[in-house]
Amino acid sequence: MSNEMNRRRWLKSTALLTGGLTLGTASLRRTLAANHLLARARQMNFETESALVADLPVMKARLLANENPFGPSAKAKQAMTEALATSYQYPFMQMRGLQKMIADQEGVTPEHVMLGAGSSELLAAAAILYAAKGNIVTADPSYLDLVETAADFGAPIEKVPLDAAYAHDLPAMEKRINAKTSLVYLCNPNNPTGTVIAAAPLRAFCETVSGKTPIFIDEAYIDYADPARTASMIECVRKGQNVIVARTFSKLHAFAGLRVGYVIAQPDVVKAMGKYASGGMGISAPSIRGAMASYQDIEYVAYAKAKNAESKEFLYQILKAEGYDYVPSHANFVLFPLKMSAVKFREEMMKRGVGLRSWEFAGKQWCRISIGTMDDMKTFAAAFKELS
Ligand SMILES: Cc1ncc(COP(=O)(O)O)c(C=O)c1O
Repeated sequence: MSNEMNRRRWLKSTALLTGGLTLGTASLRRTLAANHLLARARQMNFETESALVADLPVMKARLLANENPFGPSAKAKQAMTEALATSYQYPFMQMRGLQKMIADQEGVTPEHVMLGAGSSELLAAAAILYAAKGNIVTADPSYLDLVETAADFGAPIEKVPLDAAYAHDLPAMEKRINAKTSLVYLCNPNNPTGTVIAAAPLRAFCETVSGKTPIFIDEAYIDYADPARTASMIECVRKGQNVIVARTFSKLHAFAGLRVGYVIAQPDVVKAMGKYASGGMGISAPSIRGAMASYQDIEYVAYAKAKNAESKEFLYQILKAEGYDYVPSHANFVLFPLKMSAVKFREEMMKRGVGLRSWEFAGKQWCRISIGTMDDMKTFAAAFKELS
């Protein structure tokens, strides 16, 4: 190929590239966001599922992803089965139906609500939106999905250690907020500690801080929490504050494999986040129908909470009997300090068919175990007694 031809080709590609960058920054960011979501999903699956699960010779107790093993409610399953007949249609009507149902229940307008294929999609959308604007303040340790995505998109992350009770230290977090802060991320109840932020100080924090910087509250596990100990901050959105609340059907509603989540936020924020999310088009119509049935199934919610409480109490008794401490949990998992290397413990439990997660922080080795059925917990107990 001649030099002239090479040069022409180079000029053409450079012009296309710079043209694309200046004319289409938003679409370029959207493409990047879509690619990033795919990459993150693969990475997450690899870490929490494939890598851990592949090591298990026989999966006897799957206690590593905070799922609800009691499964979707009978009414949800029936609604999904019925929805299959019309699943050749795009889910526009179903999306609008669920959005309106949530808005009516929460006392906001449908414009305050955005659906996602699980809340992960919406955490990523917020991360990409706010990464471009400054620093993200978060607790440490806390759920990493949003902050890691924001870091991948160039945002500096300000990590504020949890307090002595392994809960969010709101006064310390408030001190870290300055003109460079673009978002505060709170996970309530917190993953991996299961601790909650009391309603009154959280309300006060939202009132003061949301005037300076948006607050993202990840309430993935709030359905499990005792209403006397904490509260959803959707009430702050209702008051017009710049608070973004993320919810998911993956936990108490047992929809992790069905992928339905949502955020409730001010309509302009929903619109801005919508540039980086599918707006619900990533969810199948049967999943949305199932979510609508589950959302109204008060009996199932009470049943799943009671089953979780029963298995959790059993776990507490096992830990106490073996001389172990634990962090009292308001969710469907429990964090407890180990007397051996956390990685070694996880590996040994895996050899015994029990999948769980390990952590290291505050100079201690920790195990996070999801709450399963009583059979799951008994399987854990038998393996644990061999190691403790
Ligand atoms: C705190 C927290 N937020 C969000 C998610 C994401 O859930 P999903 O994408 O299934 O809604 C999880 C999943 O484990 C979580 O622990």
